[in-house]
Amino acid sequence: MTLNRVTIIGTGSHVPETVMTNADMEALVDTNDEWIRTRTGIRERRRLKPDESVTWLAAEASKNAIRSAGIAPHEIDLIIAASFTADLAFPPLAAMVQREIGAPRATAFDTNAVCAGFLFALIQGSQFLQTGAYKTALIVAAEGITRYVDYTDRNSCILFGDGAGAAILRAKPAGTSTDAGLIDFDMGSDGTRVNVAFTPRPTAPAIWLDTLSDRTEITPYIWQDGRAMFKAAINGMTDSVKRILERQSLSADDIAVLVPHQANLRIIEAVGERIGIPVEKTALCLEEYGNTSAASIGMALDKWMRLGRIHKGDLVMFTAFAGGLTWGSALFRM
Ligand SMILES: CC(C)(COP(=O)(O)OP(=O)(O)OC[C@H]1O[C@@H](n2cnc3c(N)ncnc32)[C@H](O)[C@@H]1OP(=O)(O)O)[C@@H](O)C(=O)NCCC(=O)NCCS
Repeated sequence: MTLNRVTIIGTGSHVPETVMTNADMEALVDTNDEWIRTRTGIRERRRLKPDESVTWLAAEASKNAIRSAGIAPHEIDLIIAASFTADLAFPPLAAMVQREIGAPRATAFDTNAVCAGFLFALIQGSQFLQTGAYKTALIVAAEGITRYVDYTDRNSCILFGDGAGAAILRAKPAGTSTDAGLIDFDMGSDGTRVNVAFTPRPTAPAIWLDTLSDRTEITPYIWQDGRAMFKAAINGMTDSVKRILERQSLSADDIAVLVPHQANLRIIEAVGERIGIPVEKTALCLEEYGNTSAASIGMALDKWMRLGRIHKGDLVMFTAFAGGLTWGSALFRM
């Protein structure tokens, strides 16, 4: 079977207006600006107001991506949304976005790979386009993650922020004279390590307490073993990117831009060092937005597209690591 090529023809993002600086975090927990900046690289993050929604964030990012692609919403055949903090348990966030943007022809569903959400949805959507099932897809990831943050836990509360990132994918029939598009991807999971990072639903049965933590009550907040996550993220993203480089007989120098999940600058720097991609070639939005989970890669991609830092023909490597544990990478020629 000859596969279509799948190209990224537009990107968009959106964040709430409310800013939480490191000084704001100092007022909440025993921390300080210097510790947060040197240990994480984060200066500030955004937070949804009580009357703002994740659906709104996702829809605004989607509208920006649609505008940047120069398409009309009714051209969209497929919407995949990624989030673990959607406003409603169902309908899917993707259906809510469909309603907001007016894309009546689209099939809409969600995918949950936590911090790898945008990347996994990008790869998943690409499969439908490569096979010819659909022609145009909207990939959107949005998080209202501050609603799941325990603002008494200094180990985690300083890390997270709200935001959304989106991209439009378009299939180009095989034989089209372009070498742009998805070249390769790598994905993996290790479900034996579910207890490294997790967030229970408020309705989660107490039977999970033994498996997930040593606590005595279910709280619907992000819990993580920061050090374990730190190590696993560096090894996971490094190995995943190296597998693609090796398979494609490419060297790190061939990669024009690395777009990693934005969890901690020290993680990103360590991954870049091990692969051989300098931080100057790495798309970052961590300093101003913190860890926006699924949305982070979409937001960093959109920022660098708008800055003109990604050019036609560039090889762009995406890489993510998430609770699950889950990891993956994808290589696109732009
Ligand atoms: C969470 C993280 C920033 C902590 O950084 P670290 O350098 O590993 O720090 P440690 O956990 O070793 O803690 C070092 C010290 O700083 C303290 N500390 C933790 N958070 C602090 C804060 N916000 N301000 C000041 N001190 C803090 C710790 O209590 C510890 O003190 P101790 O040595 O007296 O025990 C880092 O591990 C990380 O980014 N992990 C990945 C997280 C991630 O990706 N999460 C996403 C998945 S949900």
